[in-house]
Amino acid sequence: MTAETLRAQLLHWYDANARSLPWRTGPAEGAAGVRSDPYRVWLSEVMLQQTTVPHATPYFLKFTARWPTVSDLAAAPDEDVMAAWAGLGYYARARNLLACARAVARDHGGVFPDTEEGLRGLPGLGPYTAAAVGAIAFDLPTNVVDGNVERVMSRLFAVEQPLPAGKPELKRLAGALVRDDRPGDWAQALMDLGATICRPKSPLCDRCPVAEHCAALATGAPDSFPRKSAK
Ligand code: ADE
Repeated sequence: MTAETLRAQLLHWYDANARSLPWRTGPAEGAAGVRSDPYRVWLSEVMLQQTTVPHATPYFLKFTARWPTVSDLAAAPDEDVMAAWAGLGYYARARNLLACARAVARDHGGVFPDTEEGLRGLPGLGPYTAAAVGAIAFDLPTNVVDGNVERVMSRLFAVEQPLPAGKPELKRLAGALVRDDRPGDWAQALMDLGATICRPKSPLCDRCPVAEHCAALATGAPDSFPRKSAK
């Protein structure tokens, strides 16, 4: 197998099967070559760090209807944002969210930085979020690795080392598949594959576009990856 074949198959699958999620479009929807709105991508990524797509989606819609831009959110009273966040859990995240929105408004004129380093410089914005916003909003070839992507890598390459010790190896494997071509779609294709096909339990391997490359499937027990550490 070549990495290029695998990439082409997964991107082709994504073109036909991408989940229609509200942060994948924005004010620039339909404009050729224009990516999703960085504010919407960032907000969705922060919300999705602690909950599932179905649970986060109504919150995302509520936030973006009430505060359509990062400057609107930055100007909101703390207690309004905290109240709107209720049900998403982890209020520290909502506080970080506001600190970040205010830094973008105050220090960057309401425009998100368009480099991974610039994004990392924002308060409360960690390596995962910087990589995800960089890829999805700005099409930067960052390495976006969440739990879904870790699971997909552990199966494609039948990684024997259990989590969490295996994380650096899974990240390295994911990084080796990133190209300058369509990095935002690539990141989201891996996430969608992990969420809908390469599920933790009962993966739908007969519908997987890259099953022919999957070393875990070849072992006959794909759902035994990622390996669990012995207690
Ligand atoms: N989980 C976290 N970020 C996501 C995204 N952009 N699309 C789908 N699932 C996600």
